[in-house]
Amino acid sequence: MCGIVGYIGSRDATTVVVQGLQRLEYRGYDSAGVAIYDQTAGLQIRRSTGKLENLQRRLIAEPARGAIGIGHTRWATHGGVTEANAHPHRDASGAIVVIQNGIVENYLELKGRLIELGYQFTSQTDTEVIAHLIGHYYQSCRDLTTATRQTLRELRGGNAIVAFCIHEPDTLVAARLGNAGGIAIGLGDNEHFIASDIPAILDYTRNLIFLEDRDVAVVRRHELTITRLDGTPAQRPVHTISWDPVAAAKGDYRHFMQKEIDEQPRALMDALRGRIDQESGRVELEDLRLSDSDLRRIERIYIAACGTAWHAGLVAKFMIEHLARVRVEVDYASEFRYRDPILQRDGERDALLLAITQSGETVDTLAAMEEARAQGTPSVAIVNAIGSQAARLADGGALYLHAGPEIGVASTKAFTSMLAVAYLFALKLAQARGTLSPIQIREHLQALIELPGKAAQTIEQTTPLCVELAERHYHASNALYLGRQINYPIALEGALKLKEISYIHAEGYPAGEMKHGPIALIDEGLPVICIATRDHIYEKMISNVEQVRARHGQVIAIGHIGDSLLASKANAMIEVPATLPFLQPILNVIPLQIFAYHVAVLRGCDVDQPRNLAKSVTVE
Ligand code: G6P
Repeated sequence: MCGIVGYIGSRDATTVVVQGLQRLEYRGYDSAGVAIYDQTAGLQIRRSTGKLENLQRRLIAEPARGAIGIGHTRWATHGGVTEANAHPHRDASGAIVVIQNGIVENYLELKGRLIELGYQFTSQTDTEVIAHLIGHYYQSCRDLTTATRQTLRELRGGNAIVAFCIHEPDTLVAARLGNAGGIAIGLGDNEHFIASDIPAILDYTRNLIFLEDRDVAVVRRHELTITRLDGTPAQRPVHTISWDPVAAAKGDYRHFMQKEIDEQPRALMDALRGRIDQESGRVELEDLRLSDSDLRRIERIYIAACGTAWHAGLVAKFMIEHLARVRVEVDYASEFRYRDPILQRDGERDALLLAITQSGETVDTLAAMEEARAQGTPSVAIVNAIGSQAARLADGGALYLHAGPEIGVASTKAFTSMLAVAYLFALKLAQARGTLSPIQIREHLQALIELPGKAAQTIEQTTPLCVELAERHYHASNALYLGRQINYPIALEGALKLKEISYIHAEGYPAGEMKHGPIALIDEGLPVICIATRDHIYEKMISNVEQVRARHGQVIAIGHIGDSLLASKANAMIEVPATLPFLQPILNVIPLQIFAYHVAVLRGCDVDQPRNLAKSVTVE
């Protein structure tokens, strides 16, 4: 999704901005541009379609210099992928430049008005409307901040913007409206940084301020002033981010996805760190702002999430219902927000919204949280990005994954960490509600503690076979993933991984439903990945495996180490270590990630930045 970077100080702004954009490449984009200002060189705008390296080449041919600048990577919403549609966009006078994340929902109406006033448009974007509007108001007030404020009041939708005007060469104006992605302002020594995502500026500063919805920041070299859209002053706390920016570098790995798959044992450990006390048999979630009596009152939990996080939600439902005996409904956040959900009756606080999101900026998930807030229902977020909007909206607390930045668009370590944190949350609920005794909880904690080691073992022992299977199947045009119960969402996640990065059409299905349709697809060319680790439904899975084999499908089974029965029935068996049934999905998904990764590599796909996808989806 679109990325924003800005700089004001005494360094070379082009370097800072382009480096920042490079850090944001993982978000997915199709064009990029910068605007750099210097008194003698004036306003220099450079834009290119395609990868950032195209822009970098352009900057070598036509350098831009100055100590103030903004840059943007665009993911097309309004208007195709052309240089004219790339940001920054200029107002009619050419003095004002704007970059934006989000969508101006009423842009047609605003554009119509501006055209009537004689403005001419050079792009098909909604952002150009913002540039012209700011320019329009600037003519009368001659103040960039005032003109930006006036403009923002007219916009509908969620927008994060940064504006610059050559008549005020010591100022950048940054603003956030709604949930179109965040704006972080990095504090330096007589310099300031602006970014939509903090990895963009972590090389320069760890001290950050996050803008809230309807905040306007006037950013100068030596000062930073934040006000609300209506002009009232606002104070925002400074967050110190402890992430090591090196953690976001690829090191010796060929792709971030591969690195992030390998980081899972460490990420799982970090998700558990400080949260479990084996001696007392207790789970301690410090970030949770709900008391035990709040937790006891909960009758229903609504989980809202998107993509991979939604799959985590489906797994979490099993964990919570089984361990804590609370009813759970799982919704795609994009559906939830429009289905007029009934969360709880007036005055009762017996429901909870659980938002699951890696980025904490997915617009649909944030809208679901806002819906909960509007109905007086508290929300808890399971979230990775520190200080993200979801973390701040979660009045019941943000349970951080502590997985570190995830750069590969296809989520891997964030997914398994989501499952680990969801399990902790389920145990915490069980502890407060008394559905598990401390002795039982201790057994779960022991299994959790052993999990990072088992994840490492899974990666090490399954990789060679996954590579071999990828070589055997990378020409396939379809794949079917089957699982039951808590492993059904893992089938969905395995299929999603494969289709996201290798563009092979893949479907996940509950194995019992296979006979109602997908069975028609089975022939000797179809790889069917069957998740069949031993649990209460194991025998049923074995029958499904037999049904696939009887129709000459190629069964790749995921089973427990040493399961000779399953091995005798499958064409190939990937062996994973055993853990408790409700933790097993965390191990089962790992070979599916590794398989998808190697298939994509063999097909020559852009693994970390698959076509058309974005890491964090800040538009509807
Ligand atoms: C995008 C990403 C997915 C991700 C989904 C939800 O579609 O490509 O990998 O699962 O957004 O993102 P979130 O940040 O809310 O977990």
